[in-house]
Amino acid sequence: MATASIKAIGAYVPPTVITNDELSQRLDTSDEWIRTRTGIRQRHAAGPEETTATLSYAAARSALEEADLSPQAVDWILVCTDTAEMWSPATACFVQAMLGAERASAIDLTGGCAGFLQALTLAQGIVAQGKTVLLIGTEVLTKAVDWSDRSTAVLFGDGSGAFLLTPGEDGIIPRQAFSQSDGRQADILNKPYGGTRNPLTPELVAEGHHHTIHMEGRKVFRHAVHHMSDAARRVLQEAGMTSEQVAWVVPHQANQRILDAVAKELAIPPAKVFSHVAHYANTGSASVVLALADMLTQGLIRPQDQLLSVAFGSGFSWAAQLLEVRSPVPARFVNKD
Ligand code: ACO
Repeated sequence: MATASIKAIGAYVPPTVITNDELSQRLDTSDEWIRTRTGIRQRHAAGPEETTATLSYAAARSALEEADLSPQAVDWILVCTDTAEMWSPATACFVQAMLGAERASAIDLTGGCAGFLQALTLAQGIVAQGKTVLLIGTEVLTKAVDWSDRSTAVLFGDGSGAFLLTPGEDGIIPRQAFSQSDGRQADILNKPYGGTRNPLTPELVAEGHHHTIHMEGRKVFRHAVHHMSDAARRVLQEAGMTSEQVAWVVPHQANQRILDAVAKELAIPPAKVFSHVAHYANTGSASVVLALADMLTQGLIRPQDQLLSVAFGSGFSWAAQLLEVRSPVPARFVNKD
């Protein structure tokens, strides 16, 4: 069984930035409220022509170019997203066509903000068969929020990131992983309308229902801190490591207060918990890979570093993943701040 290695990372955020002050002109909110409750100062937002597939393509192409690999070499394209291009077919099929990755099998995976880390475990299984995988996490959440709901509209941003995974012993090696779900909590964070349970009829639309996010923020906060910390402890224990041996925590960028609370739970100095939530807000499935791409392009990650990634999101689902840096990994982050 071959070891999976992350050989290159590509990332893309749309060029358009929406600041908190700009949001305050459309909604009853303020820069001060958003910053103190979440740490968010701005978010990148897709333009009218930008979609989940176009963002995914931009990130995937960057990863392939950084790895100096042809799209023809890709065996599988996995797109993790909760904001698909269409109901059908999979967003990954559009990405395959745009890339010209004619040999690839393409499929989507929906796991909320933890989905990318959950999918990394699946991708490792495919790479173990000797295959090359593009694992992409993408969200266009600004097209999935209710812009009249100030409690959710301020939290999210758009972006995409891609890992190019091949068999190998160099690059970044995913090691111990843990993930779990609790579907009993599905009603706390969801998009209740537009699916088969509540198809969007003209009557429902007239009542103000759309395919937008519903969230009970306080409950999400509590569960997120508990499960991210618990998952992190589990992988550290399995690896026989202490938190002092972790060079960086690379968490899902939900909000700064969640990150601070997780750091406290794990007794890890906040300075070792990477955060760029101020710039990009919560980008769901894209957030962990955008964070890694940012760190690599800033030169923050060095060979021999042990990274601990943790995430939590709708489902509820949560995950933790240890990543061992064996050698430098090329990364590109398009439209980075
Ligand atoms: N601007 C101004 N006031 C607001 C805003 C806003 N954008 N949003 C809510 N408020 C008001 C509410 O209406 C409420 O007013 P009231 O007291 O008059 O009723 C007041 O602020 C407090 O509302 P709460 O929802 O209780 O505020 P809280 O302090 O819990 O902060 C927040 C809300 C930031 C959403 C917080 O609960 C949180 O961070 N939750 C985690 C949610 C999260 O990160 N979700 C992302 C998806 S899941 C994930 O990625 C982990």
